[in-house]
Amino acid sequence: MKALKIGLAVLAGAALLLLASPAPEAFHSGGVAECGGCHSMHSPKPGGNYLLVGTDGASTCLSCHMHAGDTGPNGYHIATAESDMPAGVPPLQRTPGGDFGWLKKTYTFTVRGTTTVEQGETHGHNIVAADTSFVADTVNTTAPGGTFPSSQLACTSCHDPHGRVRRTSSGTYTTGTTEPVMGSGSYGAIPAAGFTVGNYRLLRGLNDSHVTGVTFTGVAIAVAPSTYNRTEASTQTRVAYGASSINTWGNWCASCHPGMHSSGNYVHPVDQSLGSNLALVYNSYVKSGDLTGSSATAYTSLVPFAENTGDIATLAAHAKIDNSQLGGPGASDKVMCLSCHRAHASGFEYALRWNMEGEFMIWNSLYPGTDTTPSVPQFARGRLGAETQAAYYDRPVTAFAAYQRVLCNKCHAKD
Ligand code: HEC
Ligand code: HEC
Ligand code: HEC
Ligand code: HEC
Ligand code: HEC
Ligand code: HEC
Repeated sequence: MKALKIGLAVLAGAALLLLASPAPEAFHSGGVAECGGCHSMHSPKPGGNYLLVGTDGASTCLSCHMHAGDTGPNGYHIATAESDMPAGVPPLQRTPGGDFGWLKKTYTFTVRGTTTVEQGETHGHNIVAADTSFVADTVNTTAPGGTFPSSQLACTSCHDPHGRVRRTSSGTYTTGTTEPVMGSGSYGAIPAAGFTVGNYRLLRGLNDSHVTGVTFTGVAIAVAPSTYNRTEASTQTRVAYGASSINTWGNWCASCHPGMHSSGNYVHPVDQSLGSNLALVYNSYVKSGDLTGSSATAYTSLVPFAENTGDIATLAAHAKIDNSQLGGPGASDKVMCLSCHRAHASGFEYALRWNMEGEFMIWNSLYPGTDTTPSVPQFARGRLGAETQAAYYDRPVTAFAAYQRVLCNKCHAKD
């Protein structure tokens, strides 16, 4: 019996090793965090509810996840304070989900005599957070393709603040409370028998219908590298997204956007295998006019795909930040919502990973900007060249062709 206990302790220790890098700043640790970080028993925020330390759920989250004074990508921060991004200065965070600060970046520009305004609110999910003046989208009153009201969109619409979904040692998912959560499930840890870890990013799942009018049926699967908020100027940040039976990203996003997904609608295929033809295109495509690539180095975080597996160890082997794992897709890997969109927000309309407004992403070997010569206003869209580059997570312009067209071509090569 004693030997068994020691055995378990050793196993637990081994599983904890995998968590070593995110642990020092841990707070949620894969499940419900320290209650006092979000609730105050005797001095909650006046005017709020649930004894929260912020006026609403999202303000509570942002009390830690946004911090004035940042000078670059900073850990778990997913929004840049307005004071840190005056006009001409782009948001600072570079997480896979994207910086909500882009929602506050409105660009005005004139093309052939017509003034156009690209509203900040078009850059992604407009969370409502009173304390940090994030307000509901004024155009989309509900989720496009669904009925979820924009006035209620918050961090907790997608993330479970109490992190109920957990992953067991055998790789199944449960909301049961018989096995304790030992840490985050976002970085590839596999718990020892008798323990669990959280699910990816504490996202809602497993028939969770705590959010009014929405049921998240399956879970969303991925593994992120433990350092994930970083410039991609020299190496890419690869989140390895997975897909297994109903546990796909398309199904997860479709909890609120059913009409953007269900078959029979006139929408782009989602959760569909690339097949050998499109996989070959992805693996060959380097940039406009260059199809000499190979599958070993084909991956780009600007057009990720879902691997056709839910196996955490497989995904963890690919979630790297040192360009050692840039393998492209196989025929059974899938196009997903996140192939084109970021989950939070981006520097472009519709939270897209690249600019779809205009035929060129790169023009004359330059990131389009109002300050580049000659300036092309329809591609710069009111931004400085540096703001455009920031929206591509600081990649050097040489990552693209001198006249680079949109990244639909990574899978379709119509350019
Ligand atoms: C990361 C922030 C966060 C942490 C940590 C947290 N909560 Fe909450 N809690 C919330 C939010 C936000 C709500 C509001 C309802 C919602 O959005 O789900 C809430 C609601 C509640 C509610 C009322 C609604 C319900 O779901 O029953 C209770 C009770 C509660 N929390 C207890 C706790 C306890 C106990 C702990 C610590 C073990 C804790 N919470 C830790 C964010 C948090
Ligand atoms: C008291 C500060 C604090 C508050 C409040 C807070 N967080 Fe966090 N959050 C952190 C820290 C620190 C980390 C990084 C360490 C970790 O993952 O536990 C983090 C990490 C996360 C992660 C990644 C965790 C993982 O395992 O992948 C998510 C998702 C997240 N927070 C969501 C939220 C949401 C949603 C809320 C509001 C309901 C919230 N946080 C409120 C401090 C906070
Ligand atoms: C529409 C759903 C949605 C909303 C709203 C949302 N998140 Fe997320 N969040 C996600 C998804 C999905 C991911 C995983 C993104 C990925 O890995 O590509 C994520 C990732 C994260 C991460 C990890 C870092 C990153 O950006 O990849 C943190 C921290 C986080 N969210 C916190 C928050 C906080 C705080 C809020 C509110 C201010 C929030 N989220 C609102 C869906 C959402
Ligand atoms: C909890 C419900 C919910 C979930 C889950 C959700 N969304 Fe949304 N989404 C909304 C709402 C509400 C809006 C409209 C408000 C807005 O545009 O800010 C919206 C708007 C959008 C938009 C348009 C943004 C714009 O600025 O025009 C895109 C693109 C989008 N969602 C993609 C996704 C993707 C991809 C996922 C999965 C990673 C997802 N959504 C998951 C509720 C959700
Ligand atoms: C192949 C790339 C691609 C995929 C995959 C994709 N989208 Fe989109 N999405 C776009 C583009 C481009 C737009 C911009 C508007 C347009 O062209 O229809 C857009 C627009 C949207 C909008 C805004 C629509 C509006 O009326 O304002 C929502 C919401 C959205 N997508 C959600 C999703 C969801 C949810 C998924 C997965 C189920 C998904 N998208 C998959 C490329 C994609
Ligand atoms: C990650 C890979 C990927 C990306 C990126 C991608 N597609 Fe696709 N696309 C697919 C797959 C897979 C199919 C379905 C198989 C096929 O038609 O060969 C498809 C099919 C299509 C179709 C045919 C649909 C039909 O009903 O016959 C069109 C049109 C299309 N894509 C346009 C686009 C556009 C425009 C973009 C950029 C906004 C884009 N795709 C980005 C993978 C991708």
